[in-house]
Amino acid sequence: MKSSETGRLFFQSVGPRALHCMCGERLKIKEEIIPSAWGAAVWRPAAMRGRRMRGARGGSLMKIGTVKVKRSMANLSLRNIKKVYDNKVTAVDNFNLEIKDKEFVVFVGPSGCGKSTTLRMIAGLEEISGGELYIDDKLVNSVAPKDRDIAMVFQNYALYPHMTVYQNMAFALKLRKMPKHEIDQKVREAAEILGITEYLDRKPKALSGGQRQRVAIGRAIVRAPKVMLMDEPLSNLDAKLRNQMRAEIIKLRHRIDTTFIYVTHDQTEAMTLGDRIVIMKDGFIQQIGTPQEVFNHPDNLFVAGFIGSPQMNFFDAELERSANGYWVRIGNVRFALNDLQQRALKDHGVESQKIVLGVRPEHISLCAATEPTAHLNAVVDVCEMMGSSMHLHVNAEGKDVVLVLQTVDLPMEKRAGFAYGEPISFTFDSDLMHLFSAETRKNLI
Ligand SMILES: Nc1ncnc2c1ncn2[C@@H]1O[C@H](COP(=O)(O)OP(=O)(O)OP(=O)(O)O)[C@@H](O)[C@H]1O
Ligand SMILES: [Mg+2]
Repeated sequence: MKSSETGRLFFQSVGPRALHCMCGERLKIKEEIIPSAWGAAVWRPAAMRGRRMRGARGGSLMKIGTVKVKRSMANLSLRNIKKVYDNKVTAVDNFNLEIKDKEFVVFVGPSGCGKSTTLRMIAGLEEISGGELYIDDKLVNSVAPKDRDIAMVFQNYALYPHMTVYQNMAFALKLRKMPKHEIDQKVREAAEILGITEYLDRKPKALSGGQRQRVAIGRAIVRAPKVMLMDEPLSNLDAKLRNQMRAEIIKLRHRIDTTFIYVTHDQTEAMTLGDRIVIMKDGFIQQIGTPQEVFNHPDNLFVAGFIGSPQMNFFDAELERSANGYWVRIGNVRFALNDLQQRALKDHGVESQKIVLGVRPEHISLCAATEPTAHLNAVVDVCEMMGSSMHLHVNAEGKDVVLVLQTVDLPMEKRAGFAYGEPISFTFDSDLMHLFSAETRKNLI
């Protein structure tokens, strides 16, 4: 393993071979050896040679500084994965994805799109009907779940009600016949990370929903898995707790250095948690990208409507090509396109056609009805005060259009809201327009 890095080591675990480290000073480490089998070798930074240390098998903790130990890798490669259930339902098809070590990938999409099925195939809980799944270059299609070094947190996690939090978290390790002192150390480490140390002696019924959720996550962490799978782990929590736990998962991810695959149907969760997002529909991947990529350049109308809240506005429009370039026309109003858009359309040889023009609510601005530049006229339907912003639902060209307006940007007399039926005019910048083919529903640029 060739690497040189400094960082924080917090009771760091090295896969199943756990090297436990704690304490103070900051060290720089060069290439180091990660033991190749459980307890078979002991890794130590050069700077620490001569100090007391023992591997996990030996039981005692070694004192290292705040270095970051590189775990064994956990790259995943899903190639042409397919799932057909016995009832002939094709739940997932043509699923191709490379996941890098320690990446946080989120699968998002509407109910029934195949998120859980894909996750369960990775965990080994569901047979793969076609394609190959590799973990660290090893084909694991037929490897049993327990041999995949993967932990999964389910939406409907069930804690053992008669066991304490400690016992719940220790249970899987006990089954593995891990020595007691190691179990104790792992449970306390995980409890510390999750902030549930003070509840270790309580039974689940004496915990709040969020605390129980943390115990469920703790049960997965103690196993120090190569890959952590989470299937809608927050969906049973109320909105406030959900936001809190979302932040906890972001922190957790930085502390446990593991590859994460997280399933949700909530686009906000996907956008805030994921390094990359995989957007699915009807068993097929629609787009893979960073949150910014999928927000700024949705590949198709489905992604455009799914990512972003409130959702993108869509206008039926015409793309017109002339000797002077391209225009977008909504009704009688012609909107100019910028140089980049002009070039991209020309390079792709796009001809005049019916399109769907997408504009996000936060990219629309009010203007005067007498504005010389291209604008649309509308009447107000509903004005929702959100505090710092206002969601204005208007009717334009026979369509419902939503505008998100920042309250501070509005003239004083409008900060309390707009009246029902009030006429307004709005415009948008060509840089923020999205052009989709009405026929293929794909982004034309
Ligand atoms: N055991 C099963 N047998 C037959 N069909 C199944 C089975 N499990 C899931 N399905 C079908 O496979 C498709 C994908 O289901 P899956 O549970 O993966 O969706 P999901 O994206 O996780 O949805 P949700 O957000 O509702 O959890 C659905 O059409 C579902 O009805
Ligand atoms: Mg599901």
